[in-house]
Amino acid sequence: MKGLVLAGGTASRLFPLTIVTNKHLLPIYDRPMIYYPLDTLAGMGIREVMVVVGGKSVGDIVELLGDGRHFALDLTYRYQRGALGIAHAIGLARDFIGNEAFCVVLGDNILRGDPLAPVAREFEDGHYRAGTLLYRVPDPERFGVAELDAQGNVVGFEEKPEQPKSDLIPIGVYFLRPDAFDVIEGLAPSGRGEFEITDVLNHYIPGGGLFAPVYQGQWADAGTVPSLVTAAELAQRDDRAGHLLPPVERPRDPA
Ligand code: G1P
Repeated sequence: MKGLVLAGGTASRLFPLTIVTNKHLLPIYDRPMIYYPLDTLAGMGIREVMVVVGGKSVGDIVELLGDGRHFALDLTYRYQRGALGIAHAIGLARDFIGNEAFCVVLGDNILRGDPLAPVAREFEDGHYRAGTLLYRVPDPERFGVAELDAQGNVVGFEEKPEQPKSDLIPIGVYFLRPDAFDVIEGLAPSGRGEFEITDVLNHYIPGGGLFAPVYQGQWADAGTVPSLVTAAELAQRDDRAGHLLPPVERPRDPA
């Protein structure tokens, strides 16, 4: 499988922290935010990763991560103009992905404590067309929200609903196959002017094509100031669980 990390957007919910720098460079405990999604992909055994960058200071992201060899990753970059949404950012990776299954992790999502390699293998080798991980939260209206039937099957996702139909949200980890690019091309922008990942996921629900296990580890996003604090506490608490990517300053590449 290949990997995608989405590190675009304006991060206006974090102003003034993100007026002059990119959200994904902000510290989460002892390392920059973007180390965590890369760590999540590395934990699945994924090596080839595209980072979709946008917003402020994108050159600093490239300077920080380089070609990824210090993390045993093979990194490539794509620029996303404007804040057109997660599905739009994924669409930019069509040529990079080619014919492989792939995993997308949002650049502000922090997952700790439960290895995802078996989940990734289950998707790659199985019959599901798309997947995400569900997580129970106290404030589902901030996220995409799952609607479940009486048997507990997901029957739909709504993006940031005023009246959430459950407290289970799709976190920012998505498993997709190349046909997702055709689905994305057929999307219309939502009311907030973005191409929504929840619309992509909804496409795969009829006929049982969506893989949506509940994530068994700990999760936080870092898109708002309170969640930035929560994410740092999670990272500190679970530090003993280990990281694949080193926190130390990497040596500079020779010029
Ligand atoms: C995005 C997605 C949402 C998902 C969330 C997880 O929201 O649109 O469906 O639940 O990430 O972090 P954002 O907070 O980027 O607007």
